[in-house]
Amino acid sequence: MKRKYILIAIFLTAIGFGQSNLSLIPMPQNISYQSGSFVLHSKTVIQTNDVTSFEALFLKESIKSQTGLDLKIVKRVPKSVATINLVFDVEDPNASDFKEDYILEVAAKSITVKAAYNQGIFYGIQTLLQLIPFEHNSDIKIPCLEIVDHPKFKWRGMHLDVGRHFFPAEFIKKYIDYIAMYKMNTFHWHLTEDQGWRIEIKKYPKLTQFGAWREGSMVGHYNEQKFDSLHYGGFYTQDEIKEIVAYATARHITIVPEIEMPGHSLAALAAYPELSCTGGPFEVAKKWGVFDDVYCPKEETFTFLENVLTEVMALFPSEYIHIGGDECPKTRWKNCTHCQKIIVEKGLKDEHELQSYFIQRIEKFVNSKGRKIIGWDEILEGGLAPNAAVMSWRGTEGGISAAKEKHFVVMTPGSHCYFDHYQGEPKNEPIAIGGYTNVEKVYAFNPIPKELTPEEATYILGAQANVWTEYMNTPEHVEYMIIPRMAALSEVLWGTSDSSKYKNFEQRLIQHFSVYDHKGINYSKALFEVTSKVHPAENGVAFELQSVHPKGIKYTTDGSEPSASSLVYEKPILVTANQTIKAAYFENNKAKSATLQQLFAISKSTGKTIELLHQPHENYGIGGGFTLVDGMKGNTSKFGRDWLGFWGKDLHATIDLGTVLTVSKVEISTLTAPASWIYYPKNITIWVAEEGENFEQVAVISAEEMEQNNGKLVVNFDKQRVQKIRVIAQNNGIIPDGKPGAGSNSWLFIDEISVE
Ligand code: ACM
Ligand code: ZN
Repeated sequence: MKRKYILIAIFLTAIGFGQSNLSLIPMPQNISYQSGSFVLHSKTVIQTNDVTSFEALFLKESIKSQTGLDLKIVKRVPKSVATINLVFDVEDPNASDFKEDYILEVAAKSITVKAAYNQGIFYGIQTLLQLIPFEHNSDIKIPCLEIVDHPKFKWRGMHLDVGRHFFPAEFIKKYIDYIAMYKMNTFHWHLTEDQGWRIEIKKYPKLTQFGAWREGSMVGHYNEQKFDSLHYGGFYTQDEIKEIVAYATARHITIVPEIEMPGHSLAALAAYPELSCTGGPFEVAKKWGVFDDVYCPKEETFTFLENVLTEVMALFPSEYIHIGGDECPKTRWKNCTHCQKIIVEKGLKDEHELQSYFIQRIEKFVNSKGRKIIGWDEILEGGLAPNAAVMSWRGTEGGISAAKEKHFVVMTPGSHCYFDHYQGEPKNEPIAIGGYTNVEKVYAFNPIPKELTPEEATYILGAQANVWTEYMNTPEHVEYMIIPRMAALSEVLWGTSDSSKYKNFEQRLIQHFSVYDHKGINYSKALFEVTSKVHPAENGVAFELQSVHPKGIKYTTDGSEPSASSLVYEKPILVTANQTIKAAYFENNKAKSATLQQLFAISKSTGKTIELLHQPHENYGIGGGFTLVDGMKGNTSKFGRDWLGFWGKDLHATIDLGTVLTVSKVEISTLTAPASWIYYPKNITIWVAEEGENFEQVAVISAEEMEQNNGKLVVNFDKQRVQKIRVIAQNNGIIPDGKPGAGSNSWLFIDEISVE
């Protein structure tokens, strides 16, 4: 199918957009609403020249489950019969760029889904299904319209980690259904991890005999360091995998399998310790995190991995094979005579180049079988393998560098695409790793960074959400974390999202909740939660509340629970003294959300001007410097949104009080969470200036003092007349050997600088 339809589309768009309340997601590229409706009833038939196509059967079964109507599939019927036509309109079978395009016409007498390829027909059907209500009625009305549609991005993906927790094959099929429902086309199946090897490999049976099982798991958050001692695990047989691949292929979804290397491989090493530097023995990990024992790049290891990949490639027909490459500590390699010998023999500079050598060897092998590799952005370090694609997860920088080097990129930055992050107020949510990525944030994502030229941007294949399952041990919990966030991502990837029209998306999304209810999906309703923003204000801050309908917000300022008779929110609340604000969203006088609770600690620095010499990392810097003087103290168990995070950089903040005041106390909070590579700064110094830039140091806080005070620092000094206060926290720097994240930059987290 040529893009001839585009011309029609431009005309159609002009007719009118937006007068209907249809809740299509992802919103089609072009839609024209017309008067009248098609009536779906028991005599309607599905007419198609390919009566045995998967698409025709899928449509029949889906209509049956939504409405109870069991429609016949026929090749030809008299004109008088109401039909849903599936028109496989093969014009140019080589025009594979357009294989996802479709046209959907709903007229009074017939519905037509037309496309050159089955995939387009499938997407047309998915759109049609969103127009058909879930109701068992004899006459179901579908509004007349015409849609001409195609996606923007080629890679519209969802990832799932089945290593940390194992999910049965039946759930994997449901996951694929959800991907298909939102016209996404890639399932990145993360099959191997430190905590479990999940794919049967005939040549190496111990991978699943031993590597798929562990004798305990973490309970609660990592910071609690608690474990159970339960035998836990599971794996997919090759027969199950074949069935799942066929299931996905029918739904036009490519499964990209991931076999992690050289790190995150402890489960494989537990089965075959001879592939390590030390020889083991090892056990399958019970703890989350990053482990020092990784594959040793010796011939035996390459033979093993090539044999594994040969079986993997026989099972998965995908163009790309994911080889991991992330978070590989170099500790063992530094102390391994074999590794050091290779570094010398191959003329490599260091262990980073050794990792690059490792990946390049694997790439050559995969390329020799007609496939390509994709890996996490660490594969850029030490030199990128010549044909590799990059999955950018530590922000978008890796993806930007790769695209500039003309490598294909899939964007998965933690900031917008990590669906293991919290999506609502942490205290109201099931335990999660951290972070804060709500639906609105996902919806605001743009996979094409502004740093790229239009030519470079063509290397961005698309994006995907990553679902790491340390804290998800049931299918229902996985559903909760992905839905509805994946609906937002689907519209970003289809290319019709517009973050300035987020409210329009949100209203459509709420309509989908009833679909989830009908399908029995366990989805998050965090969307109804009252969210907040703070702004600087005279002598304090202004607390702005938001919800799906702001008029539904009720709040209190005296610490009591909001009720139907509480104050109705009208405009940002001015906060100039210590107080607790509680708010909830009400519909029909009933609270529909959990209570938002915000404690304000107002000090002399609250709402004042603050300047940062170095900017925080994009993932943990939403509010910029103001986060440190917004009167809201971060919650130490959840290092998500209240904190500023600096990756390898120092905090260097200067607060201007606006006038000279007497000051004798500064309070600051910092964090340590080594598993997440967060370390206390080396030291924090506090400086004051009464005038201009004449700063004088008034305090030094050592890392030991931070340790003793759990990062909550109260610094008293002699009374000073000051206008400016400067706080410098020196980043811990490169993480030393033996610590989680060794060799990488440390994260530095800081919150609130209160001054009295
Ligand atoms: C990752 O999140 N370690 C790719
Ligand atoms: Zn070694």
